[in-house]
Amino acid sequence: MPKSILISRGLSPETLSLIPHDVAVDFNGHEHPLSRHELLARLRGKQGLVCQITDAIDDEVLATPGLLVVSNVAVGYNNIDVAAARRRGVVVTNTPDVLTETTADFTWALLMAAARKVVEADRYVRSGEWKSWQWDLLWGLDVHGKTIGILGFGRIGRAVARRARGFGMRVLYHDAVRAPAEIERELEATYVDKSTLLGESDFVTLHVLLSPETRHLIDEAALRAMKKTAVLVNAARGPIVDEAALVRALAEGWIAAAGLDVFEEEPKVHPGLLPLTNVVMAPHVASASFDTRLAMSTLALKNCLAVLDGKPPLTSV
Ligand code: DGY
Repeated sequence: MPKSILISRGLSPETLSLIPHDVAVDFNGHEHPLSRHELLARLRGKQGLVCQITDAIDDEVLATPGLLVVSNVAVGYNNIDVAAARRRGVVVTNTPDVLTETTADFTWALLMAAARKVVEADRYVRSGEWKSWQWDLLWGLDVHGKTIGILGFGRIGRAVARRARGFGMRVLYHDAVRAPAEIERELEATYVDKSTLLGESDFVTLHVLLSPETRHLIDEAALRAMKKTAVLVNAARGPIVDEAALVRALAEGWIAAAGLDVFEEEPKVHPGLLPLTNVVMAPHVASASFDTRLAMSTLALKNCLAVLDGKPPLTSV
């Protein structure tokens, strides 16, 4: 049977040029994701699917006859029913490693922007409100020398810890699995329980996968357990934070500020966040650098082609 794949949405042209001539490609070149109906219809007869986090890959999609591989262009894969894929013998792949440093960079950008009011300062200058230098203008929070609490100490969490060391910070972390002693030593990171992390950290940053266990990991109780001067950063997945509780925490001063790249119901943002000046927001772009997006799309394509060639994928879930 001739090989054929569906690419659900926008891969880099450089990546598309790597597809061998004997592979038939159905490519959605539009900006918008395929509707569910279109996805199911266009997937018919294909062995491979290269998809994005906006595509819901559930049992019905995975039941497509002849489908061998679903290759997600993301490290996170909460959009895919992995258990159903296993049951049906469909290989699922993701794109770890290639986005670790870029995502950690952006986490740091959000942390710095929220602590030092970078976005508010920019708005102030543009608005023309700035009339003279002012002693008590836009005071923020120091980052250097403070305590950072990293929830989820996988690749990205550890890359954030590495940056924190450069700022002379005390690094606390919590994860379901404790890191090996040599990693703790290298990163000067201390394993603590979640409540110690929340209570002692000046910055709390989230790097866990979204799962039923981590949904609303940061809820009202967690936000109330944080310092009033603390900053919360989320560049992982929106539903890890109870957004309604976060709005209250920011509006009522349970915590000082937040930096968010992800939201509970993207692209919707809780309306209560929009008027707040103590939150910096971005439209889920932490891995969006030229180099990294190219690396992600290339890895996703290679994973898909490997399975079609009967080889093991480079990075399976
Ligand atoms: C990921 O890789 O999971 C990001 O959230 C999407 O780029």
